[in-house]
Amino acid sequence: MKKLFIKSYGCQMNVYDAGRMADALAPEGFIETADPADADVVILNTCHIREKAAEKVYSELGRVRRIKQERAGAGRDTKVVVAGCVAQAEGAEILRRAPVVDVVVGPQSYHRLPALMKRAERERGVVDTEFPVEDKFDHLPLAPRPKLRARGVSAFLTIQEGCDKFCTFCVVPYTRGAEVSRPVAKVVAEAERLAEAGVREITVIGQNVNAYHGEGPDGATWSLGRLLRRLAEVPCVARLRYTTSHPRDMDDDLIAAHAELPALMPYLHLPVQAGSDRILEAMNRRHTADDYRRIVERVRSARPDIALSSDFIVGFPGETEEDFAETLRLVEEVGFASAFSFKYSPRPGTPGAELDGQVPEEVKAERLQRLQALLEEQRQAFNRGTVGRTVDVLLEKPGRHPGQLAGKTPYLQAVQIEGGGRAIGDLVPVRILRAGSNSLFGEPAGGPALTAAA
Ligand code: SAH
Ligand code: SF4
Ligand code: F3S
Repeated sequence: MKKLFIKSYGCQMNVYDAGRMADALAPEGFIETADPADADVVILNTCHIREKAAEKVYSELGRVRRIKQERAGAGRDTKVVVAGCVAQAEGAEILRRAPVVDVVVGPQSYHRLPALMKRAERERGVVDTEFPVEDKFDHLPLAPRPKLRARGVSAFLTIQEGCDKFCTFCVVPYTRGAEVSRPVAKVVAEAERLAEAGVREITVIGQNVNAYHGEGPDGATWSLGRLLRRLAEVPCVARLRYTTSHPRDMDDDLIAAHAELPALMPYLHLPVQAGSDRILEAMNRRHTADDYRRIVERVRSARPDIALSSDFIVGFPGETEEDFAETLRLVEEVGFASAFSFKYSPRPGTPGAELDGQVPEEVKAERLQRLQALLEEQRQAFNRGTVGRTVDVLLEKPGRHPGQLAGKTPYLQAVQIEGGGRAIGDLVPVRILRAGSNSLFGEPAGGPALTAAA
């Protein structure tokens, strides 16, 4: 058996892709290891979204180079693969900066990985960053059940990839290419396979997941709302989620699905980026802050308890103190259960990087700190609001201490419970006793537990 080590950075798409790369290499006799020193093939699955993310790859490649040398000393060969969005954005440049690398493969070419690995036996430095015409998903095998990568209780399923929106700060349209939706039948078949392998919660993912427009079995184009209704029928799947959505694509059908489908969890990650219309326009988001407020109102009238999450960028070129105050005002009005926030990072090749009025680093840092303090306050308040309530918790893994199990609430909060009589994969009503800074603590609320077999 040959050993494979994969490390993923960046978004859920990369987590999903790592699983599919492992599946693609399984027929070649590869099994995964958690120890890079033990690996015949090391794959770094990279992210290009901000400068820091992209630079991580090169420091990691320094460590990989030392491992490769040590292994070579013991007569063992190591092949090093750079995949993901840095691979797509930098291509052959990676080989120049880091000669330890054997293969550079972009996200649209993973189905060619076994062939590229064979080529790397003969040639030095193999690069594939094309956008091939064949659908990579058709050529990426999902490994047969016994070999299916252990995906646990909760799994991602890519239904859509790429982006046509071209926000002026963002590299994704360049690294992931044009928007493509997978056909409904393929998505449903994959969901059924995951359910057979013990998955109880599926998060359908895409860079613009609510722009989904896949071909249905009836020949019509299906929206995300319609797809979710179909996925809710897959046996044994207790929970559905989707991410990441764009405000422009929050249509009535999707909002109605939140009112109709008990399996669709009351949690919505809906990035807004900024609260100033001037900045939103410069970002090419093509919605206003009030559009966002109206969407939130509609979603909340469909599902009053929905927890909201978002992404924010501070210090986009031209952002004044007044613009930033608009962002704080939006956050105060909407109220978020959780959020990600970042300093603007100019990315080569994007229009934002060329704009006048780049904001000084210390201004960005100070704004980020103020925004994060507010968001953190809201997150803690949201978590405290769950104390005393009984919520369903899907148990996903062993807890921090022996005898404990860890899981998630419908609102994606982490919970620790005393395990007694419960198992991973169970969906258990839990009374929340207290809120720690990163986790809730609770006890099973008595009554018959819904077991994994139910
Ligand atoms: N497709 C998603 C998310 C894309 S990347 C969407 O449309 O929202 C995830 C987040 O990274 C973005 O929402 C944005 O907040 C942040 N991001 C993207 N490019 C960035 C940049 N150049 N600098 C700082 N943050 C960035
Ligand atoms: Fe990037 Fe904007 Fe596309 Fe999201 S919608 S992936 S932020 S370009
Ligand atoms: Fe990063 Fe690419 Fe995802 S740039 S955020 S890994 S789409």
